[in-house]
Amino acid sequence: TPARIDLDPRWTVGDVDPRLFGSFVEHYGRCVYTGIYEPEHPTADAEGFRGDTAELVRELGVPILRYPGGNFVSSYQWEDGIGPRDKRPVRLDGNWRALEDNQVGTDEFLSWTKRVGSEAMMAVNLGNRGTQAAMDLVEYCNHPSGSYWSDLRRANGYKDPHDVRVWCLGNEMDGLHQVGHKTAYEYGRLAAETAKAMRMIDPGLELVACGSLHPRVATAFSWESEVLEHSYEFIDYLAIHAYYEQRGEDRDSFLAAAIDMDRFIESIVATLDFAKARGRHKKQVNISFDEWNVWYNDAGEVAGQDFRKAPRQSENMYNVADAVVVGNLLISLLKHADRVKMGCLAQLVNAIAPIHTEPGGAAWRLPTFHPFALTSAHGRGTVLNTLVTSPRYETRWFGPDTPQLDAVAVRAEDGESVTVFAVNRSRESALPVEVDLRGFPGLTRVSQVVLADEDPEATNTAERPDRVVPRSVSGARVDGGTLSALLPPLSWNMLTVR
Ligand code: AHR
Repeated sequence: TPARIDLDPRWTVGDVDPRLFGSFVEHYGRCVYTGIYEPEHPTADAEGFRGDTAELVRELGVPILRYPGGNFVSSYQWEDGIGPRDKRPVRLDGNWRALEDNQVGTDEFLSWTKRVGSEAMMAVNLGNRGTQAAMDLVEYCNHPSGSYWSDLRRANGYKDPHDVRVWCLGNEMDGLHQVGHKTAYEYGRLAAETAKAMRMIDPGLELVACGSLHPRVATAFSWESEVLEHSYEFIDYLAIHAYYEQRGEDRDSFLAAAIDMDRFIESIVATLDFAKARGRHKKQVNISFDEWNVWYNDAGEVAGQDFRKAPRQSENMYNVADAVVVGNLLISLLKHADRVKMGCLAQLVNAIAPIHTEPGGAAWRLPTFHPFALTSAHGRGTVLNTLVTSPRYETRWFGPDTPQLDAVAVRAEDGESVTVFAVNRSRESALPVEVDLRGFPGLTRVSQVVLADEDPEATNTAERPDRVVPRSVSGARVDGGTLSALLPPLSWNMLTVR
């Protein structure tokens, strides 16, 4: 029997906030230096940013970009990164054991962000700094003029305020690895007081507090619960993070990793709503899933052994299987679009990233680029509730009842089309799928785009940048209100009906 997807136009999950398709630029590895910024590169613009990278970033479709960290932010002195470049200090970044010469800082990043068509999500340092530094940074970025920090910005050549709306109150403060790690009580109080103070400078901010750095960290959910007890009224979003990898030979479990993301999101929603009820709050706090991806810690260095500028850290050369999982993680985010309002694929270039560059050389798309770019382009609108009926397979992680099919459907903003994103997790068998379209009598034409390959290990290199690309396939059809399609083994699919 074919797998089935049932949906109905009146049965909706919620509208997709385009900021669900964000990404993340951290001063980590070669994300900034020789990634987005390389003044000596032949394509560099007047500000020293690579034109070839910028073009790929625009194509990827990332409406929001988180900056400057990550772990980096927890010991970052933001004042180091402003003013004349030749006067900026060279610092040791202890967290990543790299050399930071501050040639890119707040102003350069924020103006580049606008040039690539994104808004910024800035993080403040609540590790070894605190409320005053956060207030100063908001004043520097957002206040028009007539005060110390806003006039300094103007003197530095940025007359107009950067007008940054979204701010993270620190990064992964639950993590013992974090500079300035705090208990949930300490952080909850600090987040509340810093949020309050930042809004005194600019009342229009959207603020994000730190949730758990990983679903399986021991303090997950109790951390959130206590942090929210102190900060619920002051924040708009709770940040959560998750990275997945194939462990050993166990590809079957890895291919179903999105189940873990589903469960994480649903447990966080329950935790948020418990905090709302317990505190008798009226407003609803939503989720910013502002770090997620597949991440292999053994690709290059994770933290450098010595202090060098732009070391090759976490340069994962993703393959087809990784791209299918990334596509599936996007399906998970979309399925929860009512509560997950922002997301950041971590990261953007070179380190844990869909875009790879070589210093002085090429920039190209890794396989994970493709499901992301297509979902960002076609996953905007309203998510429809789907009832997915699927054959099952056995995995070590999720047991004998692991669904082979995962899917989500999005009705376009203009109502003229519905796009179904679907993953076939089976490594062996193609999966026939039927989608019940009787609620959409006007939609009769279908197209199918597939990311799959005979070699699931295939990747893209500078020499063969288009070895792995999505393909349009024929064969899908709509007949009597039913869409029928065949999903190849280990594949990510996009079916659009018009
Ligand atoms: O994205 C890489 C790192 O992963 C980030 O710096 C940190 O927040 C997370 O642990």
